[in-house]
Formats: sequence, structure tokens, C-alpha cells
Amino acid sequence: MTDRARVRVAALISGRGSNMQALVEAARAPDCPFMIALVLSNRPDAAGLDFSRRAGVATEVVDHKAFASREAFDAALDVALDAHGVDLVALAGFMRVLSAGFVERRAGRMINVHPSLLPQFRGLHTHRRALEAGVAEHGCTVHWVTPGLDEGAPIAQARVPVLPGDTEETLAARVLAQEHRLYPQALASVAQNLHAR
Ligand code: GAR
Repeated sequence: MTDRARVRVAALISGRGSNMQALVEAARAPDCPFMIALVLSNRPDAAGLDFSRRAGVATEVVDHKAFASREAFDAALDVALDAHGVDLVALAGFMRVLSAGFVERRAGRMINVHPSLLPQFRGLHTHRRALEAGVAEHGCTVHWVTPGLDEGAPIAQARVPVLPGDTEETLAARVLAQEHRLYPQALASVAQNLHAR
């Protein structure tokens, strides 16, 4: 597929960026319906920025600390996304809550990966909370972003077993491997549907 035919995706990160890396790698396939037009971080020191710069992907930092309000930060995000002609936003370990206005402007055009089987364990520390709750199964969800935190409709889920002796780290690693598989697939199906509109 030519670049002109692909859906232009911005991957928003705050840290390690391993999900963003999985998206960039998936977009290298010739028939992939999306391209990563921009990697944007709210943290100048996000480790994932090294990968995106080396991979030759357009990379921007919009440091939330430079803005007086959430709305001003979100307006700067809009400017960056528009400058890169972004059709679809993929939150990939982006740890800032976005204003309702920003989310509503991108309704149906913004997705997230979350490390739990939503609606279980919205918010932070999902692996610790799954272990504390004693669930037999855990996993990850790709979902639409709506103003309520981790409340948007699921697009796809992947399940993993919780094993005897699991720690937060072993469980997180098992889930993360599934995120890296699930997120590119789910993003591809969303991008296909945008094409078909
Ligand atoms: C991932 O596990 C992602 O699901 C989670 O942060 C991690 C980021 O890792 N996101 C959230 O918790 C969002 N609420 P990565 O930076 O290596 O992709």
C-alpha cells in the first residue's frame, strides 16, 4: 500500500514506548493499512524517543510541564497532530489524562491499550490489583478513548493465565507480550474501517 493510501497514526507515549515500537514495526509491512506519521511524547526523557528517532519516524515532544493548564497542553497537542496530518491517535503508554474537549474532538479517532481485561481494573497498578484480587485470568484491552478514564468500548482483548508464583513483574511481562501482538492487529482493523467509510 502506498503511503498516500495509509491511515496516518500518531503514537502518543510517556515512557518506554514498547507498544509504539510494535506499531512502528507492524507498519513496515507493505500491506499494513496504517503508517506511524508521528511519535509524540509529553516527557522529553521518554526512553521510547530513542527508538522512534533512530527508526526515522517524525518525533515531537510536547512537555506538559510547559503549560499552565490541561486545556493549553491539549491545544498544543492538537497543533502537533494537525501539523502532521494525523487521522487517528493511538495512545501507547501515554500517562496524561486528556481534557474532555480534546477527547470529544477526536471521538472515533482515538484508541488506547490498557493492561487489564476492561472493565476490570481501570486506572493504574493493574497487575498488582489483579494479583490481589486473585483472578485466574488477566490480560489487555484495546479500546476507544472516551472522556471517562478507561471507559470506552473495547475493540479487542487478549487473555493470559495468572500462574502460581506470579509477581507483578512476571504477570506484567506476560500481558505486555500480548499487548505487542494485539495492538497492531486492532489498530489495523480500525484503520481498515476508516478507509472503508
Ligand atoms: C503498557 O502496559 C500499557 O498498556 C500501559 O502502560 C504500559 C506502557 O508500556 N498503559 C496504561 O497503563 C494506560 N493507562 P510501553 O511504554 O512499553 O508501551
